[in-house]
Amino acid sequence: MSISVTHNSTDQAEPQFSAEKMVEVQRFIAMFPEGKQKSALMRILHLAEEEFGGWLSVPTMNYVAGLLNIQPIEVYEVATFYTMFNIEKPGKVVLEVCRTGPCMLVGSDQIIEHIENKLDIKVGQTSADGMFTLKTAECLGACGYGPMLQCGKHYHEHLTPAKVDELLDTLRKEHSEK
Ligand code: FES
Repeated sequence: MSISVTHNSTDQAEPQFSAEKMVEVQRFIAMFPEGKQKSALMRILHLAEEEFGGWLSVPTMNYVAGLLNIQPIEVYEVATFYTMFNIEKPGKVVLEVCRTGPCMLVGSDQIIEHIENKLDIKVGQTSADGMFTLKTAECLGACGYGPMLQCGKHYHEHLTPAKVDELLDTLRKEHSEK
């Protein structure tokens, strides 16, 4: 699989953390010894997603690299490796379906296919209305409750196509006014 980091027309030109967020950034950096600031990278990427619209554009990743005094490629490597980071602007709701063995054995493939058909998208894409982005993830630590998906901080378990339909309706209602 090849992964590319591309510029996007909605990239922020010059991202800058708010003063409030910068306090948090500095707090995380200070947790590590001099010369080991890179260890704060994951925490800072989460803060960057919160601050800059839920995703990591190339300018954002370059900005984070500058804050940690590391090369941009070191940030790209981490941001593209972990599926929880978005390197393209996602929809309002991100669905991450676990595709690892135990979930696959109890039907995660069918759940993925059902969501793809329902939303008319493929994994990695966002629905035409900008509401849902479908992703897959490796084991999310709920192997006994599959098939399952993560949406934000919530897990949805023992999924069936009917449960997925219900979940999509609920999420659409919750997020349509936001
Ligand atoms: Fe799906 Fe572990 S295999 S949560």
